[in-house]
Amino acid sequence: MLAIIGGSGLTRLSTLAVAHREVVRTPYGEPSSALVYGQIAGRDVVFLARHGHGHAIPPHKVNYRANLWALKNRGVESVLAVASVGAISDQYSPGDLVLPHQLVDYTHGREHTFFDGGDRKVVHVDFTQPYSAQLRERCMQAAVSAGILIHDRGIYAAVSGPRLETAAEIDRMARDGATLVGMTGMPEAALARELGVAYAAIAVVVNSAAGRGESAQEISMEKIVMVLESAMDKVRSLIDQVVQQ
Ligand code: HPA
Repeated sequence: MLAIIGGSGLTRLSTLAVAHREVVRTPYGEPSSALVYGQIAGRDVVFLARHGHGHAIPPHKVNYRANLWALKNRGVESVLAVASVGAISDQYSPGDLVLPHQLVDYTHGREHTFFDGGDRKVVHVDFTQPYSAQLRERCMQAAVSAGILIHDRGIYAAVSGPRLETAAEIDRMARDGATLVGMTGMPEAALARELGVAYAAIAVVVNSAAGRGESAQEISMEKIVMVLESAMDKVRSLIDQVVQQ
């Protein structure tokens, strides 16, 4: 089964015919929200709102382990995550969709692994390619079918937030090769890998990153909200198509 993890602007899927909801208990505490089971175009899908249904959980307080564990435990094999980002590279504009192919993790202080030692033996997972090639390909094909433009490459810089970055921090990330910046991509992707769940992300560009483009002096929150609202229709259409691929 495919799961969609919705981020800011996507706290529910309008095309999802809801069958039932389930609050899952996990060894890691409570997931961000109930799992919402349903169908899109006759295909089973489960939806999880990363920031809770009322959008009350900030990126650094999301219980990423509980979310991924709950999905895996209920039979999810693939996770398509939706996350808003700032554009570091000027190849992307606000409103664009990007399928990142790599990431750099700058987060700190988050519970970031299931392999925490204790009574378990030490485990290291391969993370050379953090996103599933198959799921990315499925998204690319879906975008073609739906006539939606999506950038097929991006290097996602994961930051802790909730504050936005300084211009110098963005310059540093650019020197590291990152082209996008967001607050929720990690440890989500790594936890999915640890559980053997295929993971890909649709990054929704909602602003130019700090110090770049129209954010040269400051980042406008009003604009972010406007861009997010208008881009979500595109994201919903893309998800509809991905489910049917
Ligand atoms: N920085 C970090 N996270 C973000 C941004 C940003 O500029 N925009 C949306 N999420």
